[in-house]
Amino acid sequence: MSKLQVPDGLETFQPEIFAGKVLFCTGGRSGIGYRIVEMMMKHGADAVIVGRDAKGVEESAAKLEASTGRNCLGAPADVRDPEQLKRAVQAAKDKYGKLDFVVCGAAGNFLAPISGLSERAFRTVIEIDLIGTYNTVKATLPLLRETRGAYVHISATLHYRGTPWQTHLGAAKAGIDALSNALAVEEGPRGVRSNVVAPGPIGSTPGMTRLNPGGQPLENLIPLGRVGQTTDIANAVMFLFSPAASWINGSVMVVDGGDAHTRAPY
Ligand code: HXC
Repeated sequence: MSKLQVPDGLETFQPEIFAGKVLFCTGGRSGIGYRIVEMMMKHGADAVIVGRDAKGVEESAAKLEASTGRNCLGAPADVRDPEQLKRAVQAAKDKYGKLDFVVCGAAGNFLAPISGLSERAFRTVIEIDLIGTYNTVKATLPLLRETRGAYVHISATLHYRGTPWQTHLGAAKAGIDALSNALAVEEGPRGVRSNVVAPGPIGSTPGMTRLNPGGQPLENLIPLGRVGQTTDIANAVMFLFSPAASWINGSVMVVDGGDAHTRAPY
């Protein structure tokens, strides 16, 4: 395979591998989360996507149903609000009766030096990314215990080194990695797995547009010679939810073309 090709998960996984399963994904309205949901649905899953923008969530759910032929519920909720999340989980339970998989993918970010970062700005990113993950786990864990289900949390690689203008996001993502590790150990005995996927630079996502506003070419900085695509992340998540990963728990899977080994990201 040439280094510029992206493997299509449709040719890799059995077409019905997630038939009868239900996925709950925060941040599923756009970007990486959207592609994860779409690929899981194309492999048989039904889904719930959660986002702050009620109209956007509704529109994305309809689009996902049209492109996959599976069911998708759009549940408006801000992950910072535990009550809104509980209502989204209840709506999922009312529609499907259960949850098998949860992707904690909701994130907020911007570039800012700590000298220009207000207390509220720092807190906002911690609340969306880290507290939002905590709130999502708290709201969904009772259902995942029933199905012996699995979590995948979308983290990052930029806290492996000091990444300038990312104190807020780096601190939040480091916290998410730690949360997942502890969750894996606590809930593993009940059959619930928890893992992290840490994406490198992914093209055409809201995150990259914010972090690389000038659209600087990154290809030559990445060992595999291309930026990532949302499909690369979806493939990794599908593997972690598949029976092939049934003994993988408390791991962080870096999906970045080797980027984090070469330099501080961004
Ligand atoms: C400094 C900033 C700022 C900036 C916002 N703030 N942007 N400070 N530099 N560029 C400050 C505001 O001034 C305010 O503080 C505080 O942050 C909260 O801002 P609000 O706009 O009131 O918050 P809110 O409406 O809740 O929006 C949250 C948000 C926003 C994170 C600021 O950007 C958002 O909703 N983003 C969601 C989508 C997103 O970011 N997706 C990208 C994820 S990328 P003050 O003190 O002034 O009141 C990602 C990838 C990471 O996660 C890994 C990369 C590899």
